[in-house]
Amino acid sequence: MHFKEISPAQNAQEVQTRHEGNRQAWNEAAQEYAANNEQRVQDLQAGKSNLHPVERRNLVRLGPFQDWCQRAIHLQCASGYDTLSLLLEGVHEVVGVDISDGHIENARLTSERLAMPATWYRCDVLDTPDELNGTADLVYTGRGAINWLHDLDAWAKVVQRLLKPGGIIHLLEDHPASWLFDQNSATLVASELDYFNHAEANQGWPSSYLGDEGSSLGPSGTPVTEQSTKYERLWTIADVVQALISAGLTIEYLGEHPEPYWDAFPQLRSDQRAKIPMTYSLMARKAT
Ligand SMILES: C[S@@+](CC[C@H](N)C(=O)[O-])C[C@H]1O[C@@H](n2cnc3c(N)ncnc32)[C@H](O)[C@@H]1O
Repeated sequence: MHFKEISPAQNAQEVQTRHEGNRQAWNEAAQEYAANNEQRVQDLQAGKSNLHPVERRNLVRLGPFQDWCQRAIHLQCASGYDTLSLLLEGVHEVVGVDISDGHIENARLTSERLAMPATWYRCDVLDTPDELNGTADLVYTGRGAINWLHDLDAWAKVVQRLLKPGGIIHLLEDHPASWLFDQNSATLVASELDYFNHAEANQGWPSSYLGDEGSSLGPSGTPVTEQSTKYERLWTIADVVQALISAGLTIEYLGEHPEPYWDAFPQLRSDQRAKIPMTYSLMARKAT
C-alpha cells in the first residue's frame, strides 16, 4: 500500500469526486470477488452464514431475527455475501446498496442463482433512493465501510431516513486506534497518522485482504501504479457517535473488541495484538 496524506473533503463536490474514485477502485476489486461467486453460492446453499461473531452476539440480544426484522438494508454490501447471510439468520427480506457496478452484479448473480429475496441498488450510499425511506427494521453496515466515505453527517442522515420508527442500525468497524499502528510490523510501531484529522489517497490492496479471494487475476495481479487511486478517511468513534446523535438516533450499545474481522496486522505477534482494540461495534435506534 502506498498512501499520501490529504485534507479532509471540504465540500460536496470533493466528497463526490472521492466517492467516484472509490467506485473505480472497487470495480477493480470486484473482479477478484467475481472469481469466488460460485464458492459463495455453494456456501450460502450449505447454510454457511458470514455474520461476524460480534455481530451475532449483539443482534441476538434483540431477539430472534424472524420476530423483529422484516427488512434489513445493508449499506456498502459489496458482493452481497453478508447481506444474504442475514436471510440465513432469519431476516425476511434484504436490500443491498453499493457504489460498485461489479459488486452489485456479483450480488445479483448470487441471489438470482439461489432465488433469495434480495433487491440491489447500485448507487452512492449518500444517494440511496427515497423509495426506501422508513422501510428498514435494521440498517446493517461496516467491516470496512465508512472509511470509504467523506461526509459522515450525510451518511448518518441517510441511516436515519431509511429506518422505520423504532428501527436500529448495527455497525462493526476497525477500531480507529488500530490505525495508529503500522500494519506491516511484528510489534506495535506507531504509524504516525493524525488520529483527529486523517484522510488519505492510496493505491494497492493489502494482500492479506484481497489475496484471500484466491485469484491471481484482477487488482492484486495488476501493478499498483496501474490501479485506480482510492480515498479513505479515519473516522473516530466520537465522529460516528456524534453524527448518529445529530441525525436524531439514540445510541443503545457501544463495544470495543479484541476480535478483528480481517487479517489487518498479518505480521503482528499475538501477545501484542491482544493489547489494542481491533474493532468496535455500535447500535443506535430511531425513536418510535
Ligand atoms: C470492504 S467493502 C465492505 C464489505 C462488506 N462488509 C461485505 O459485505 O463484504 C466496502 C464496500 O463499500 C463500497 N463503497 C465504497 N464507497 C461507497 C459509497 N460511497 N457508496 C456505496 N458503497 C460504497 C465498495 O464498493 C465496497 O463494496
